Amino acid sequence: AFNLKNRSLLTLMDFSSREIQYLLDLARDLKRAKYGGYEQKRLIGKNIALIFEKDSTRTRCAFEVAAYDQGANVTYLGSSGSQIGKKESIKDTARVLGRMYDGIEYRGYSQKTVEELAEYADIPVWNGLTDEDHPTQVLADFLTIQEQYGSLAGKKLVFCGDGRNNMANALMIGCAKMGVNYTALSPKQLYPNTDLLERCQLLAQESGATISVTDNVDSAITDADIIYTDVWVSMGEAESVWKERIALLTPYQVDMAMMHKAKDGAIFLHCLPAMHNEETVIGREIAKQFGLSALEVTEEVFESKQSKVFEQAENRLHTIKAVMVATMSS
Ligand code: CP
Ligand code: NVA
Repeated sequence: AFNLKNRSLLTLMDFSSREIQYLLDLARDLKRAKYGGYEQKRLIGKNIALIFEKDSTRTRCAFEVAAYDQGANVTYLGSSGSQIGKKESIKDTARVLGRMYDGIEYRGYSQKTVEELAEYADIPVWNGLTDEDHPTQVLADFLTIQEQYGSLAGKKLVFCGDGRNNMANALMIGCAKMGVNYTALSPKQLYPNTDLLERCQLLAQESGATISVTDNVDSAITDADIIYTDVWVSMGEAESVWKERIALLTPYQVDMAMMHKAKDGAIFLHCLPAMHNEETVIGREIAKQFGLSALEVTEEVFESKQSKVFEQAENRLHTIKAVMVATMSS
């Protein structure tokens, strides 16, 4: 059996494929138990700190509900209201929280920060998104793919968009580990970081996956089982990059024509939040400025039968619960 107790989840790079599969299986079991009415509380009396230097809906709610389902308590620390990031260093924060809590979730900017927290806290630290990585999201994505297809290995996932953002990095790492063929479909200016790409290609030799990069829509999409996209401008990036990104990424918008080029029955995934219409503040702004009502995905694809985005969002709960149970339960 696997013992992940006291392990931090900073990136899936640190986990073997068998450990990742174990977390996915545990998530599936916890999901069944919750809906079957026989979930056992394995985190009774545990206290969890949730640090969010950037905003969140899914990640925050998944950590909170997962904790409550398992009998744990949470403290939410937002971007204001604590000393973090202002008067007190991460190293000191880690040592204080480590003496009061049993686990820490961190969402923020630098991967270094979450690493430093883990180094000094002496309790499990979970990465709830940084500029570089988003490992808990990939666990939910993989559970969703497994539910749809029954397995992961050998499937082809195409990520369309900013090929070097946190989601692209995290998916490339996860796919390389789990034997999922990964293609980054991006304009050359947004190709993945070469070092990370090479590391993933090396890892993929063990799992049997292929990891590739292209700016050609047709060759990327052929045989795709999963079309994945994400926002064109990520949290923490300047609003002023919108103009340039729209120019670069408009040819890579996921529309029905693109979905038709994929395998029959291919599914559409998006980590969310998504800009598929004008119903958001930024959506209205973009529509006014650039005359576009949808960005990374059209409303038609987002609302189609092939879209599994809400199954995916729900799976954040079950997979994050699995991570907490595996790393924190006694
Ligand atoms: N997908 C995701 O991480 O969503 P939130 O920003 O709402 O947490
Ligand atoms: N790339 C996006 C992911 C949001 C879950 C961002 O960082 O804003």
